Amino acid sequence: MKILGIETSCDETAVAIVEDGQKVLAWAVATSVEMHAKTGGIIPDQAAREQVRAMVPTINEALNQLEEKEGSRDFDAIAVTHGPGLIGSLLIGVETAKTMSWVLNKPLVPVNHLVGHVYANYIAITKLPPLPYITLIVSGGHTDLVLVKDHGVYEWVGGTRDDAAGEAFDKVARILGLGFPGGPAIQRAAKHGQIRDFSIPRPLMHSGDFDFSFSGLKTAMARLVSGQEDLEKNRNDIAAAFQEAVVEVLLVKTFKAAQQFGAKAILLSGGVAANTHLRERLQNEAQLPVFVPGIKYCTDNGAMIAAAAYYNYTPIPFSEVQANPGLFLD
Ligand code: KG4
Ligand code: ZN
Repeated sequence: MKILGIETSCDETAVAIVEDGQKVLAWAVATSVEMHAKTGGIIPDQAAREQVRAMVPTINEALNQLEEKEGSRDFDAIAVTHGPGLIGSLLIGVETAKTMSWVLNKPLVPVNHLVGHVYANYIAITKLPPLPYITLIVSGGHTDLVLVKDHGVYEWVGGTRDDAAGEAFDKVARILGLGFPGGPAIQRAAKHGQIRDFSIPRPLMHSGDFDFSFSGLKTAMARLVSGQEDLEKNRNDIAAAFQEAVVEVLLVKTFKAAQQFGAKAILLSGGVAANTHLRERLQNEAQLPVFVPGIKYCTDNGAMIAAAAYYNYTPIPFSEVQANPGLFLD
């Protein structure tokens, strides 16, 4: 089954066509990230405007690739992110998908963005992860620990009380003068630095529950940076120490959740899953099989939405599909 997946929850306009949840036949991504880099963060109105501009050309590009590969532009179903995300951005993808479903008379599957991130782990793999598994969903908007008991059966175990891990990367990169998006910038700087002791806190690391908190960490980093006489000299070391602090808190809680809930594997999901330090430490230290998505499938893309729709194939009439910016995992 060939599913065309559409993802427009934030600043990426992404479309992919995936066969049987595994094989990526077409891949197109337009992003307004460079525009947001100028302001150091995403401006929702501008992101939505760019979605409008990019939506149809991006679908067309994916269909061109499909035709080149398969000799036909035909596919079986449409999947679209219906939340959570920025309402203006979500609406563009959702209304486009509804129109396509109506005009082309094809089934439409709405997909939760977070579920999409989890299914990035299923693309282009040979062995499926054993159930139940714990997944750490870490993105610009979310830090959640979720027990996946079966396809579509999720138990939320814990999450952030304030900022998401990706948001912390973005804000701290800004404090360090490293640009936007912060995750890749901090990772690059950290590669040239040494992890030294700057007394960076590990918020809630031993709180006994599965909650996270990153806003205090951001404040601590702002204080640390403003007290630096030679930031130029220490910047890479500070980036490395900050990255280490975030990774450590994420891993301690993930390992604890995996043990407590009898998980058979640990999966990493979301944009921050692209972080090589997080991936390496997880792979080295976990007592269970570890699954991580290919780097290109970690940040927002259409393939993860198509894969999620394949494994949770529940089409609904297009007239009932609605963008929901505050959608929960259920
Ligand atoms: O999943 P995503 O593409 O969009 C959301 O759903 O939020 O995640 C974007 C987030 C940004 O905060 C970005 O800084 C972070 O993922 N990110 C990273 C890396 N690549 C992207 N964080 C740490 N290390 C990375 N290599
Ligand atoms: Zn995302």
